[in-house]
Amino acid sequence: MKNPLLFLATFVMCGLAAAPTLAGDAAAGRRLAEEHCVRCHNIEKGAGFKLKPPSFQAIAIYRTSEDIWSRIIAPSPHSGMPDVQWTLMPEEVQDLVAYIASLDVP
Ligand code: HEC
Repeated sequence: MKNPLLFLATFVMCGLAAAPTLAGDAAAGRRLAEEHCVRCHNIEKGAGFKLKPPSFQAIAIYRTSEDIWSRIIAPSPHSGMPDVQWTLMPEEVQDLVAYIASLDVP
């Protein structure tokens, strides 16, 4: 495929079509967040509603699990969110989604 954008679009669409059932392990996701995400995001419960980058609790409050999953797999371009999908296993992404979604409590 010559057009890299087309390739990316195909990859993203295939990824979305194959969206997993999102049955991750929140405790494992917490450990992954400490390893891969904490240098930018506040990953604590009760961290407050912060933006740039958003705290994980803020993300949990305003996004569905499916939305969180797709924003990890295909981060918004130029947002500063790294392409972590190349360094994480698909199960690890599900674990992270489970952890983030578990913060959706006041
Ligand atoms: C280098 C810093 C950095 C790291 C490391 C990082 N992020 Fe991000 N993340 C960002 C930035 C910046 C944004 C974009 C915020 C915006 O759109 O204004 C973002 C956005 C996101 C979003 C979308 C938020 C939304 O509602 O639009 C999710 C979900 C997310 N990150 C999850 C993660 C996870 C999970 C990890 C660890 C695997 C991680 N991030 C690691 C900087 C980082």
